Amino acid sequence: MASSPLPASDANSPERLTLIRPDDWHVHLRDGAMMRDVLQDTARQFGRAIVMPNLKPPVTTTAQAVSYRQRIMDALPGGSRFDPLMTLYLTNDTTADEIVRARASGVVHGVKLYPAGATTNSAAGVSDLSKCMQVLATMQEVGMPLLVHGEVTDPVIDIFDREAVFIDRVLAPLRRDLPGLKIVFEHITTSDAAHYVAQSDGPIAATITAHHLLYNRNELFKGGINPHYYCLPVLKREWHRLALVEAATSGSPRFFLGTDSAPHTRESKEAACGCAGCYTALHAMELYAKVFDQVGKLDKLEGFASLHGPAFYGLPKNTETITLVRKAWSIPSELHVGGSAVVPLDGGSVLEWQLA
Ligand code: DOR
Ligand code: ZN
Repeated sequence: MASSPLPASDANSPERLTLIRPDDWHVHLRDGAMMRDVLQDTARQFGRAIVMPNLKPPVTTTAQAVSYRQRIMDALPGGSRFDPLMTLYLTNDTTADEIVRARASGVVHGVKLYPAGATTNSAAGVSDLSKCMQVLATMQEVGMPLLVHGEVTDPVIDIFDREAVFIDRVLAPLRRDLPGLKIVFEHITTSDAAHYVAQSDGPIAATITAHHLLYNRNELFKGGINPHYYCLPVLKREWHRLALVEAATSGSPRFFLGTDSAPHTRESKEAACGCAGCYTALHAMELYAKVFDQVGKLDKLEGFASLHGPAFYGLPKNTETITLVRKAWSIPSELHVGGSAVVPLDGGSVLEWQLA
């Protein structure tokens, strides 16, 4: 006898999911023609986004952030209510006055620490954090969050250990010196980082990408080298991925959504020395829904995507909602972005959730 069919929908496996409109607390929108195209994807999925400053040249002053924000606003479709939250790029030469100006602007919501050489367009980053202590103390004083690319750049340290070593060498000492400094440990990739953030006292939180929740480092080498899964910090072992899923779906307000969606052209990824970055702005909420669904925690998605971020940044939650429906669709294998081809994460494969 055939077994009776499962009910079409129950609490752990709904067919539709309506959430307060989510925000992306870490995205690369780039500039110019590429920005005009990728912005449409981010603005469709999210109410706000923390916009990374690693342009060429980097966004190091409030005046540059204000004019970058204006370029973004000008590129938005009429009627869009998307709100770009700007950031400054910390350098050895950033001044305390600049931080005060940034805070007063109401436009800049964080200052990004790229250890020099850690990732894409980070050459102008900080070579010695001890030289920035006055600036960091001012950030603590005015309540400006420090957004951290948490990897050491010491070439002697194995690339898979650079995040864990960063905690010991940089983050823990910094937090001892400036315990009131608000810190977002961006795109965490290890159980070390997840546990450090979960167990710390004080104002520290972390963002987690969809790709680090979905994949471990095997994905980079499945049947050959797969450059579209190469990002920084690089994907780690399965036990690290499991720790990230545990953190993201735990309901802890210290963890929230940050896609780190980072568009690169197909040619610059499929090259002898390919660029780091995964493009997920197109289908971010669908990817996150897939992970939360896999572990039966869809009820925790709204906190992670829509509530914990604004609470940490001291901003109101969004008033609109979005709806995800359980409906299979194929991710395009290639997108046309700013006149070039960009391959989205998992391009060509099927996703079970779709943004209505
Ligand atoms: O994979 C990454 N891509 N990681 C980063 O830190 C930077 C980003 C980019 O800008 O392409
Ligand atoms: Zn990034």
